[in-house]
Amino acid sequence: MPVRALWFDHGALFIIDQRRLPARTVVRRMTRLTEAAEAIRTLAVRGAPAIGVAAAYGMVLGHHEGRYSPGRAARLLRATRPTAVDLSVGSEVVRRAWASGGDVEAAADAYRREIVEECHRIGLAGAPLFAHAPRVLTHCNAGALATVEWGTALAPLRVARERGARIFVWVDETRPLLQGSRLTAWELARERIPHAVIADNAAGHYLSTGQVDAVIVGADRIARNGDFANKIGTYEKAVVAKENGIPFYVAAPWSTFDGGRRTGRSIPVEERSEEEVLSFAGTRVSPERSHARNPAFDVTPFRFVTAFVTPSGVVRPTALERALERRLAGRS
Ligand code: MRU
Repeated sequence: MPVRALWFDHGALFIIDQRRLPARTVVRRMTRLTEAAEAIRTLAVRGAPAIGVAAAYGMVLGHHEGRYSPGRAARLLRATRPTAVDLSVGSEVVRRAWASGGDVEAAADAYRREIVEECHRIGLAGAPLFAHAPRVLTHCNAGALATVEWGTALAPLRVARERGARIFVWVDETRPLLQGSRLTAWELARERIPHAVIADNAAGHYLSTGQVDAVIVGADRIARNGDFANKIGTYEKAVVAKENGIPFYVAAPWSTFDGGRRTGRSIPVEERSEEEVLSFAGTRVSPERSHARNPAFDVTPFRFVTAFVTPSGVVRPTALERALERRLAGRS
C-alpha cells in the first residue's frame, strides 16, 4: 500500500516530515495555521496536491484559533509558495465554507477525499499506457507523499504493476533537494517496485539509448493550452523525450489545472534560496564567494506533451481545452 502523507485527527494536522526522509520517518503534529504555513514553505509537506490539502487543513486550524478572518488565513497560506495552483484551490474551498458559516473540517475532509479519489482514477486511467511500456522515467516526486495517497505520476505505475506489468522506474535524483532520490526512491523501495536512481544529467543518456519506454511526471500548474509547470529540469526531459520519439505523459488531478490561465508564459516560478544549490546534504560544496540561482520549477510547452492523464481519462493537449470546459460544465 502507498504511504499516507498527512491526516487530520482531533483538531490537529499530522504530516510525515519529508525533509527527514529517507533517514527517518518523523510525524509532526500541528495545531496552528502558522505551523502549517511554515511546513508548506519549508517543504516538510510538498507536492502540489498535498500542499493543497495541507492548506485546506491549515485553514481549519486558523478557524479554530479564532484570530484570523477567512480571507487573511487564506492569504497567509497562499503566500507560502507561488507556483502550485492547488494551494489556492485547497485554501479557497475551506475559505468559502468558513465565510458562509459552514463546517470547515467537513469541507477540508471532502477536499482531501476528492484528491485521493482523483489520484486513484488517474492510476486506473493511466495504467494501460504502461502495460507494454514498462521502463518508465520520472522526475521529482509525484507519488503518495506529494498527493496524500496514490500519487499522480506513480499512480498509473502502481496500478499497471498490480495488473501484472513488469514496471521498472528510472528515478531522476532531482537536484537540488533530491525529491527523486530521497522520496520517490523511498516510496518505490518500501513497495518493492524495481527502480534505479540516476543523476539528473544521466537522463538524456538513458532516453537516447533505447532504455526508456515512456516518461511520466506530475505538475504544479497546467494552463488551458497544456503548457505546464513542474519541478526544474522537467522541460529538458520533455525535449529529449520528443527528440527520441518517447511518449511524455503529465498526470494531474483537476485542482492542478488553472482554467484562468491561457498559456504557461505567465505561470509564477518560485525562486528558492541559493543555499539549496551551493550546498549538498547540508554541507557547502561551492566556494564561499560563489552565488547561485535556484528556480524551483520550469514551464514546458504543450507541444512536448503526448497526453495528460486526468481523473477522467487520457487527454491529448489539443483536446485539453474542451475537456476543461466539459469539467466546468460538470459533465466529467
Ligand atoms: O518543490 P516540490 O517538491 O513541491 O515540487 C513538486 C513537484 O514538482 C511535483 O512534480 C509536482 O508537485 C507534482 S506532485 C503530484
